[in-house]
Amino acid sequence: MANKIFDNAKKKKGDEYYTQIHDIELELKHYRDQFRDKVIFCNCDDPYESNFFKYFAMNFNTFGLKKLIATSYSGSPIIFTQLSLIDGLEMKHIVDSTNKAYKIVINEVQDENGDGAIDLADVEYLISNDKNTLIELEGDGDFRSNESIALLKEADIIVTNPPFSLFREYLKQLVDYEKEFIIIGNKNAVTYKDVFSLIKDQKLWIGYRNINSDMWFMVPDGNNYEKIVDGKKLKHIMACWFTNLETTKRHVPLTLYKHYNETEYPHYFNYDAIDVSSVKTIPLGWDGPMGVPITFIDKYNPDQFDIIALGIVGSIDFKHERKMEILKKGVPTGKFTINAKGTLYKIFNPDIDKKPPAFKDVETGELYSSIYARIIIKRKDKLL
Ligand SMILES: C[S@@+](CC[C@H](N)C(=O)[O-])C[C@H]1O[C@@H](n2cnc3c(N)ncnc32)[C@H](O)[C@@H]1O
Repeated sequence: MANKIFDNAKKKKGDEYYTQIHDIELELKHYRDQFRDKVIFCNCDDPYESNFFKYFAMNFNTFGLKKLIATSYSGSPIIFTQLSLIDGLEMKHIVDSTNKAYKIVINEVQDENGDGAIDLADVEYLISNDKNTLIELEGDGDFRSNESIALLKEADIIVTNPPFSLFREYLKQLVDYEKEFIIIGNKNAVTYKDVFSLIKDQKLWIGYRNINSDMWFMVPDGNNYEKIVDGKKLKHIMACWFTNLETTKRHVPLTLYKHYNETEYPHYFNYDAIDVSSVKTIPLGWDGPMGVPITFIDKYNPDQFDIIALGIVGSIDFKHERKMEILKKGVPTGKFTINAKGTLYKIFNPDIDKKPPAFKDVETGELYSSIYARIIIKRKDKLL
């Protein structure tokens, strides 16, 4: 029990990654035309601490937003600690409360100098306008609460960086309510069964930011950090943007330049597909199924490829049920597994494989290399 409480506390701490405004700007600028006349809801966003709120408030008029709503969460360990995560903001809370969640609703941003933008997403300035409100919520601001769901229903597009520990549930809610969204998530979420099937069915894709580029988040005091920049403690997370808003990126065809040959593109032993070790070497001249690294989804153009399955047990049916001895650095361990621990594998080829074999067939003595984290895809249009 004690351990469980400790784990939950750790998990919550791990949810406190605050997005830098330039990362928000870099991604969201691509969708600006899609924001026009829309109600934007940031549902994990304390307006005093969230750069998502600041970004939309600053661009309220230039984007032509209809309404901007943000809700805070009273379970947040940083609520009312008055963290200076946002440059230039007066960190004085207007809501005089001990630990209450609240919502801010922006209907109008007065454009003092007529240039379509406001200089500062100053909450006090924003709510000095009678058309805008900042009010306490009845509950804790949980995105699953009735209050928050009522706002979700009213909203057109949801944009935030939700708690990583609740990512599946968070995404499911958006899908269940048929909402458009742009959200940040851990890259590994791609391999979650439910997330992967949304990608496969073209109901979810990766945003503009390259999935392999570093993303640094601000973390509150007391959390682990890797560097300090401009007084902000930053930590690197393997994160990317997930969206169901249209992007031009997903219609750009991947340029294929290598040609298929049997040696460089070996067949898996337990599944009828070839292995492609990097996305940029997807071959011309092969129209059958192939296993590609997970990062393929960043380049996925549904006009060019079909996604068939995730290359792991449960997603695909393996051809064999071979008993194998597990090898460590090529040396037997005396431990055994079936089907390479449920992953794809191929016959070890000492001429091309850089790593030692990972498994040895108990019956035949054949050596195998295991292949982790693959997506099975197929060319859709040979002419592309
Ligand atoms: C990854 S942080 C991102 C915060 C902010 N959106 C940003 O990027 O600047 C996730 C936020 O969600 C809040 N949160 C955690 N659980 C929540 C829940 N069940 N409902 C709503 N918000 C929650 C956390 O306190 C935290 O502030």
